Amino acid sequence: MTTKILVTYSSQTGSTADIAETIGEILSDNGAQVEVRLMHNVKDLSSYNAIVIGSAIQSAKWLPEALQFIEIHKEILAQKPVAIFSVCMTLAMKNGEKYKHNISDWLNPVRKLVKPVSEEIFAGVLNIGQIESFIQRIKFRISVAVGVWKEGDHRNWEAIEKWANSLNSKFSNTNK
Ligand SMILES: Cc1cc2nc3c(=O)[nH]c(=O)nc-3n(C[C@H](O)[C@H](O)[C@H](O)COP(=O)(O)O)c2cc1C
Repeated sequence: MTTKILVTYSSQTGSTADIAETIGEILSDNGAQVEVRLMHNVKDLSSYNAIVIGSAIQSAKWLPEALQFIEIHKEILAQKPVAIFSVCMTLAMKNGEKYKHNISDWLNPVRKLVKPVSEEIFAGVLNIGQIESFIQRIKFRISVAVGVWKEGDHRNWEAIEKWANSLNSKFSNTNK
């Protein structure tokens, strides 16, 4: 039987969306039947054998919509293998890997609701012009000026592909 996998994501400026699409393509190349959906458009999880959930990080948290999605669906998510990924800029900082542990702590509210079979954090994109809030744009311009973050696309496609390729075995090793 073909495994049916949902890849669902919450993204504000699009970088998490592209990562979700790439993960979906790789899972599909590896033989699964895959749907990649904006979280907002997902209502029913019953037809999927496994679920990948991704969110951008803002203010050291998953986007509110993503946490709410897990809260709403937590009973059904407990019955299926779930993998989660997060996209943030801290990992793109100089020596960003050093902060992976701290970033991982930001996911504790997610782990209270779901027990993922796999988790990963990816560096994202900083495009200040795309940020809606004027105040946030000023804050980011200051962070860039003082050298905390660099504008641009920091996504590591190799790391994204590697994680996506690891998921099949993680999903099939579960007893759910
Ligand atoms: C308002 C705002 C707040 C952010 N807060 C954080 C943060 O606390 N830590 C971090 O590492 N990255 C932070 N980022 C960076 C985003 O996680 C990064 O730009 C990511 O690629 C955005 O994903 P998206 O394009 O899918 O929305 C923030 C970005 C924005 C716009």
